[in-house]
Amino acid sequence: MAAQVNSWNEWDRLEEIVVGSADDACYEPTEPGNHPHIRNAAPGTAFPTGRKPQEAIDAANAELAGLVALLESQGVRVRRPEPHDYSKPVRTPEFSVDNQYCGVCPRDVMITIGSEIIEATMSRRGRFFEYEPYRKLVYEYWNADPAVRWTTAPKPSMTDEMYREGFWDWPLEKRHAEMHSFEFCITQDEVIFDAADMSRFGRDIMVQESMTTNRQGIQWLKRHLEPQGLRVHPLHFPLDYFPSHIDCTFVPLRPGLVLTNPDRPLSDGEEKLFLTNDWELVEAPEPTTGNDEMPTYCQSSKWLSMNVLSISPTKVIAEEREKPLHDMLDKLGFEVFPIPFRNVFEYGGSLHCATWDVRRTGDREDYFPNVDYQPLAEG
Ligand code: ARG
Repeated sequence: MAAQVNSWNEWDRLEEIVVGSADDACYEPTEPGNHPHIRNAAPGTAFPTGRKPQEAIDAANAELAGLVALLESQGVRVRRPEPHDYSKPVRTPEFSVDNQYCGVCPRDVMITIGSEIIEATMSRRGRFFEYEPYRKLVYEYWNADPAVRWTTAPKPSMTDEMYREGFWDWPLEKRHAEMHSFEFCITQDEVIFDAADMSRFGRDIMVQESMTTNRQGIQWLKRHLEPQGLRVHPLHFPLDYFPSHIDCTFVPLRPGLVLTNPDRPLSDGEEKLFLTNDWELVEAPEPTTGNDEMPTYCQSSKWLSMNVLSISPTKVIAEEREKPLHDMLDKLGFEVFPIPFRNVFEYGGSLHCATWDVRRTGDREDYFPNVDYQPLAEG
């Protein structure tokens, strides 16, 4: 029987993918793990709560439907999340939050590594149950193919103790002073990671230490993945003061080529892994839209511009207005498929975030033959 779940990297030819949905989306709640703000609003202006207006939901859904149509025209099987009422509060014995968020960004929650599906711990209260809209699909894959392995990472407590509330008020000077300590709004006691902090390079998994993934989270990933022969490399981008999710910062496009963010260079020395293995790091061009012109409720930066989705090592989907990026990709030998996606931005991401690839062709390859890696068991 053909494998149902198989994906080792971000670029091999895509066969099956989940595209998110804005149905029933809510504004992300203010909580210790997240203080969303309205762009260009006076400080202290309250962020809206509850369900998003239907027009905003429809506009995002129309663009998501455009992505679905494009993928299908390229022969990719597209799946969608189950309906979920995000306006319901989350109540556990330890915490509660008035509403959930949305199902636009499966990338943040779910990851495929070979034939294994991992549900991330998540780092925010409003996203605690965000795996639910994908469970029916996971069961389908799991029932259809005995080679599929399914892992749910340990759920964190999300109690007040798990967070550092003061983080949100730190002045820029303090962030600058702390930039090499990689301490953010989550503390280091519990295992915490969002799936989108990882990027898959065959045998090697890159993980960004961030405000959504801590060192214990990376430790859990190492202990889980190393016995399978994988290597987990923490990466750091010290100039990103609010890091979350690696896919606007460090984006592999094909073997030997990573798109990098000129505002967020890798921490000193971390580029060596790539350079000694003949990888080229190319800087993305300046986005077409400044941070101030991004959608009002969008919490992400202008660098959503580089959040591209690969259909294959030669075909890339990019946001329609990012002409300088299209030109660069074209020169690098890619066929670019531009589609409008700006209405999705306020739901936390662009093309890569809004998807979770379940199956791509290809096997696990070693793209880093020259590596000095110390597995935990020997460390
Ligand atoms: N923190 C990123 C930025 O603003 C946005 C990442 C979005 N990625 C995602 N998978 N939701 O640059």
